[in-house]
Amino acid sequence: MLGFRKNKFRFVILIISIVLQLSILKAELFFKPFNVSYDHRALIIDGNRRMLISAGFHYPRATPEMWPDLIAKIKEGGADVVQSYAFWNGHEPVRGQYNFEGRYDIVKFVKLVGMSGLYFHLRIGPYVCAEWNFGGFPVWLRDIPGIEFRTDNKPFKEEMQRFVEKMVNLMRQELLFSWQGGPIILLQIENEYGNIESSYGQSGKDYAMWAASMAYGLGAGVPWVMCKQTDAPEYILDACNGYYCDGFKPNSYNKPTLWTEEWNGWYTSWGERVPHRPAEDIAFAVARFFQRGGSYQNYYMYFGGTNFGRTAGGPFYITSYDYDAPLDEYGLLSQPKWGHLKDLHAALKLCEPALVAVDDSPQYIKLGPKQEAHVYRTEIVCSAFLANIDEHNTASVRFLGRVYSLPPWSVSILPNCSDVAYNTAKVRTQISVKTQEFGSPSSYMTEPRILQVEEVVPTISKTWMTLEDPVGAWSENNFTVQGILEHLNVTKDTSDYLWLITRIQISEEEMSFLEANEDSFTPTLIIESMRDVVQIFLNGQFAGSAVGRWVRVVQPLHFVQGYNELAILSETVGLQNYGAFLEKDGAGFRGQIKLTGLKTEEIDLSTSLWTYQVGLKGEFMKVYSPDQHKFANWVHLSPDKLPSMLTWYKVLNFLLLMECFNQDSMLRILQK
Ligand code: GAL
Repeated sequence: MLGFRKNKFRFVILIISIVLQLSILKAELFFKPFNVSYDHRALIIDGNRRMLISAGFHYPRATPEMWPDLIAKIKEGGADVVQSYAFWNGHEPVRGQYNFEGRYDIVKFVKLVGMSGLYFHLRIGPYVCAEWNFGGFPVWLRDIPGIEFRTDNKPFKEEMQRFVEKMVNLMRQELLFSWQGGPIILLQIENEYGNIESSYGQSGKDYAMWAASMAYGLGAGVPWVMCKQTDAPEYILDACNGYYCDGFKPNSYNKPTLWTEEWNGWYTSWGERVPHRPAEDIAFAVARFFQRGGSYQNYYMYFGGTNFGRTAGGPFYITSYDYDAPLDEYGLLSQPKWGHLKDLHAALKLCEPALVAVDDSPQYIKLGPKQEAHVYRTEIVCSAFLANIDEHNTASVRFLGRVYSLPPWSVSILPNCSDVAYNTAKVRTQISVKTQEFGSPSSYMTEPRILQVEEVVPTISKTWMTLEDPVGAWSENNFTVQGILEHLNVTKDTSDYLWLITRIQISEEEMSFLEANEDSFTPTLIIESMRDVVQIFLNGQFAGSAVGRWVRVVQPLHFVQGYNELAILSETVGLQNYGAFLEKDGAGFRGQIKLTGLKTEEIDLSTSLWTYQVGLKGEFMKVYSPDQHKFANWVHLSPDKLPSMLTWYKVLNFLLLMECFNQDSMLRILQK
């Protein structure tokens, strides 16, 4: 008996030691455990001040298959850190049911970052903005009684804390914090709350302080950041976001100067031009930041990627989140941006010993009216930055006995205070030109484009197939109630689409009146306020549509005598992701829906019986998926017959849903 107990004891000890060894091994795969702290000059990593370059890369905006290659290109580009938000609505699509699989396998992602020798900055939020649907909030959050987002509100704070704790505990359990040998050196709570804090009065101030102390209290063991939060408490770092942050000063002398979002490009909205920021200007902004005392800078985004599925925020942000980033949507190097910034990082690294060695401000030398030098010098090292902030003229300046020619709007980096290793305006990287062939098997269409019907038709070849979606209710799953229900309360954001169908009776008398007074009386549907898109069908025929954010819709209608079926398709195009009071914004219709222009008084349709149908048939049948599309009755598109308003298109390897808006046609990519 005693022997058995002894053996059992030994067995337990053996198991414990194996588990311990395994976990140490696991941790050592990444780093030897190290501490992260900070002083007024920089983050202190394992006892040393560091100047850090960080690369923004949101893991669900690429597929896990793409992650290793993208991380390798980030490393090769000279970054030290990868930065990402955590996406609450992706991780907890249903309250209490978590998803850490596939594109949401954050543990795998952080481990890949660690394995490549890079650090990680995890911005938990959980409000993230990020042009992400509803700013990252799960839509079910709206349904919690008494909830008000991002303010001193008990139900919200409880939910927020639960998610933040979940993420911190997960990272700790997976040994991903620096002190465990993992790559995580920084965290973030909230996101740019300072921008909207005043909308909530004292409750906003109290909430910000609660968020800070709640986060800090989780004992994660690495510093927390609150970006754009000038009232961040002493124990939380504040940080700048913007196109230029070289004038930024943190709210305490004890904190280093951090730049959490260097906007090196921008997102694209429906129908708007694709933004572009030149590599020279980005390099200038970054060099100026380090010149004037900055110590951590993150590119937002280094890789932007794709808003898969229905993750794009808005309203009206598109599928691509390319962001004009150094790595394009497909993970290809965007040149000369990637290469020019790589050269910049190499030059900055040469300056790092001097930058971290100088404890106070660098020596400032005025070189001309719009030219200045900052010199980081100790007895052993010396690095200097010479800036010409004149946007138009080259300047010739004298610095430490030598003459330097500074191109307009540029910074020269002198790692040894004498030789120019890099100038932000001089691009040495070759420019790459990418072309895309419409519909070729090897290319993807990256941005949905607004096309005229006439523009689409000539491109139609035999390979195009179409599938019409029915107008109105298409499944048993519809219900009829009196009145207009709020869009999200019905869809729960399971679909962008909501059909509202009602019947309107036009009597013989009314019809004769309308016919007799055709010139002065036009029956007109009025929707007082709606967002984002509405399409109106009368008796199965398309009548008109409108697009906008809380706009009034005025739609003339041509009735027939007897019963008329009015079917309105209400659509969201990405839920609001920025601003105060997000929970109150909602979607669909506000105010009255009525019919005017009849012989009788106005008809208030807001109190009529309406049938509700969530989603489109093709969407629910997943006709866009590789497995399911073959089960639908596709027909060849013929240029002789223009397709109906709600038509799925398939050509080679992608599918589109085309919606025509009067003159325009909008192509939406539902799935690549
Ligand atoms: C910032 C925000 C980011 C992103 C960015 C624009 O203000 O923090 O999440 O939305 O704007 O791309």
